[in-house]
Amino acid sequence: MSSAHPQGTPGPPTTIVLFGATGDLARRKLLPGMLHLLRSGLLPRVQIVGTSLEEHTRDSFVEFAHRAIREFSPDTTEAEWKDFAQRLFWAPGGTAESLRAAVEEAEGECEGPQRRLHYLSVPPRAALAVIHTLRDADLVEGSRVIMEKPFGTDLESAKQLNAAVHAVFDESQVFRIDHFLGKEAALNILAFRFANGLFEPVWNRNMIDHVQIDVPEKLGLEQRASFYESTGAYRDMVVTHLFQVLAFTAMEAPTALDPQSITEEKFKVFRSMLPIHPEDVVRGQYLGYREEPGVDPESETETFIALRCFVDNWRWAGVPFYLRTGKKLAEGQRIISVAFKEPPKSMFPEGSGIGQHGPDHLTFDLADQARVSLSFYGKRPGPGFRLDKVSMQFSVEDTTWAGSVLEAYERLILEATKGNHTLFTTAEGVERLWEISTPLLEDPPPVRPYEPGTWGPNQIHQLIAPRAWRLPFERKWRERTTRDDA
Ligand code: BG6
Repeated sequence: MSSAHPQGTPGPPTTIVLFGATGDLARRKLLPGMLHLLRSGLLPRVQIVGTSLEEHTRDSFVEFAHRAIREFSPDTTEAEWKDFAQRLFWAPGGTAESLRAAVEEAEGECEGPQRRLHYLSVPPRAALAVIHTLRDADLVEGSRVIMEKPFGTDLESAKQLNAAVHAVFDESQVFRIDHFLGKEAALNILAFRFANGLFEPVWNRNMIDHVQIDVPEKLGLEQRASFYESTGAYRDMVVTHLFQVLAFTAMEAPTALDPQSITEEKFKVFRSMLPIHPEDVVRGQYLGYREEPGVDPESETETFIALRCFVDNWRWAGVPFYLRTGKKLAEGQRIISVAFKEPPKSMFPEGSGIGQHGPDHLTFDLADQARVSLSFYGKRPGPGFRLDKVSMQFSVEDTTWAGSVLEAYERLILEATKGNHTLFTTAEGVERLWEISTPLLEDPPPVRPYEPGTWGPNQIHQLIAPRAWRLPFERKWRERTTRDDA
């Protein structure tokens, strides 16, 4: 990964207090991400106070971080690691006293104004206890706090959680993280829609037949049985990531690229969404889930969900949005596919290939190296008039910017240290999403079994008929082109 980020401005020294510092997310994403922010010059004066319920000393935490960096950021040089290592501190046991002492030690190394960010990488049930410890340690004033989803499990619990958080932190200090909103490709949806004149005129119910937001995963539970059992695919993925991506796809043009304008437009989408009805939902559970360690042998938790929902406003009334995600599916993908309406009349005879591969459509791939493709019917060379699907594709990987991609967590940590809420969800937005989820949560349809390695239970086809799921792709994404054949 390249370290060049010319637009970065150093900012004051920043202390990040990382709760859950020896957890899986810290190991895979947060510590490597913070190191990358340091070495790329985006957060050059950062220090990290780690804490968790595990027994560690500063030295053993540094050793933990070193292993994480070797595994997940292997191109780090020895000098870069040494610079990072001396910025790591440890607060044993996470008590108010030890936190206060470790933060004072870290902040004492710098002079002048400083920023402080608490990152709560802890299970939802532990979040409030941490917030109270921060209050007891007098580490609230002037600090910002990043919280991890799920933000409650239904409307009632979300309201309670928000009220309890607001008793300690002001909403302006709270950053609810949804890492899909930090993905380069998700932001590219905004650039694509609002920086061009070409697409916006067709972005509505007159031209668009339906939208698919499809995020199948090959992964299973990955040692997260207890989290997953009480969460399930809807709460883990849909009410968070998929609805946020839907908002970027469906929102009106914000008046400015600032937190308030973007948040307002996203919230209007959520307000326009119709409640999710159980008859528009297919829940699934992969065969073998109930035998996983830590899973109830009679569990009704869904590991798969597909649903149809509607944004009931002037732009989108009547246009179905199909969402799907699940564990142990055939492929890992994250796509948004926008299908256009067929032409009202066709001069092409049956058998010419017209319509044979579904409607023309635009596809966004939300991979780190974002891709966009526009697929449409074209004439096959040769005699007669045979049609086939062809596509135009753009891939970040083919550009010289490939090395500048920021990982989602890196971007979000950076923005939170600056106090920029643009890419974070609000208490109000979260509560509205739980509100539209109420009919489904109160009366969920039964979980249907599916074989691991498939695309989910058979009922998914009825849900979308007479349309069809775009995945699996009939044709693969174009392979990376080298400069010579570009
Ligand atoms: C997390 C979910 O928020 O997102 C996981 O808890 C899921 O269950 C993950 O696997 C997917 O994120 P990404 O960025 O790997 O697609």
